[in-house]
Amino acid sequence: MKYDFDKVTDRTGTHCVKWDYYEMRDEVKGMIPMSIADMDFEAPDFIIDSIVQRAKHGIFGYTVIPDSYYESLIKWLEKRFHWSVKKEWIRFSPGVIPALNFAVQAFTEAGDKVIIQPPVYHPFRFSISNNGRVVLNNPLICEGNSYRMDIEGLKKVIDKRTKMIILSNPHNPVGRVWREDELKALGEVCLENNILIISDEIHSDLIMPGSTHIPTASLSDELAAITITCTSPSKTFNLAELHAANIIIPNPELYSRFDLTLAKAGINKPNIMGMIATQAAYSKGEQWVEELIPYLYENFLFMESFFKENLPEVKVSGMEGTYLGWLDFRAFGLSNAELEERLLSKARVAMTPGRIFGAEGESFFRMNLACPRTILEEALKRICGAMKELH
Ligand SMILES: Cc1ncc(COP(=O)(O)O)c(C=O)c1O
Repeated sequence: MKYDFDKVTDRTGTHCVKWDYYEMRDEVKGMIPMSIADMDFEAPDFIIDSIVQRAKHGIFGYTVIPDSYYESLIKWLEKRFHWSVKKEWIRFSPGVIPALNFAVQAFTEAGDKVIIQPPVYHPFRFSISNNGRVVLNNPLICEGNSYRMDIEGLKKVIDKRTKMIILSNPHNPVGRVWREDELKALGEVCLENNILIISDEIHSDLIMPGSTHIPTASLSDELAAITITCTSPSKTFNLAELHAANIIIPNPELYSRFDLTLAKAGINKPNIMGMIATQAAYSKGEQWVEELIPYLYENFLFMESFFKENLPEVKVSGMEGTYLGWLDFRAFGLSNAELEERLLSKARVAMTPGRIFGAEGESFFRMNLACPRTILEEALKRICGAMKELH
C-alpha cells in the first residue's frame, strides 16, 4: 500500500466547510462532521507535487489548455469505462454544478420542465428552479435496502414541455450504480420523447466491488447524441475547490449551444491549478483509485456491520458507488427535527439530513464515509450511544 488512508489530518483552520463550519460555532464545537461530500484524506502526492512545481514558477498569467490535458482525460475514460471520447466533444466548466446550470440555460426555455429522480443531490433541483424552469419529480422506488428508477412513472410525467432529465450516476445519495438495462430503459423513453439527458457522472470512479460504471453516452450513438456527460476528478482525488470539471457533448449542435452559454458567462478556460491537478490525476491516478476504493468499501462494511450488531433499527442501503452511506432511521418513530436534534446535540455527529434530497429522504441520513476508520468508529459509537438512550 502506497497511500495511508488511516492517517488523520487536522483540517480545522483551513476554512473547510466540513470541519470549520462547526468549530466556528461554540454551541456545536467537537462535532464529527460526516456531511459535505469531500474526503478527509490528503490528495495524492503526484497532484500536490504538480501544483507545488507550477506554483514555484511564480507567474500565473493567461493559459492555453495543452493537448496533453485532453489526452489524459480521453485515455482515462477509455481505460476505465471503454468509452472513446473525441477532443472536440470536451468542454471545461468550473464545476459540475455550474455545468448543470449552463445546460439548463443552454437547452431549455423558461417554463420548460426538467425531470429529477429524488431522493437526489439537492442542487439538481436548484439548477432548474433558479433558472425559471419547472422541477418534475419522478421519485426512485425503494425496495428493501435498494432503489430502482420508476420507468413507468417517467413515461407518465412527461408532457410537451418536458425537455430534460438530470441523472445521477452513481446516484447521490442512495448509492446505486445504474446497470446497462436500467440506463437503456431510461434512454429509450428519452429518445422517444426528445428528452435530453444530463448525466452527472462525478462519482463514476468511485465504484465498489461487484458494480461497473457505464457512461450513459457510451451505450449507443443515438444516446450519445442526446447526452451531456458531466465528469470531474474532484470526488476521486479530493480536489473540489480547484473547480475543474469536464463536460462531454458528442452532438455538435448541442456543444455549439453550450459554448454560447459558456461565452455568455465569460468562461473559456480553466484556472491553472485546476487544469494541472486534473491532468496529473488522469495521467497518474490509477494506483490511487485502486487503493482508495477498497478502503472506502471496508469503511462501508464496517459501518454496516456496526449498525447490524449494535443498533439494528438503522437500516443501511447498499453502496454500489460513491462514498456516501444512506441510512434509514425511520424505525425510531421520531420526527426529522427530533432525529436531527439527537444526532447533533447528543451524538455530536453531523450527517446530511435526507430531507434535503426530497421528501423521500425524510428520516434518512447520508453519512460521508471518506474518512480514516478511527473517525468513523468514534462517530458510530457516538450515534449508537445517543440513539440507545431511547430504549
Ligand atoms: C452528484 C453530484 N454532482 C455534483 C457535485 C458537485 O460538483 P462541483 O463541486 O463540481 O460543482 C456533487 C458534490 O457532492 C455531487 O455529489
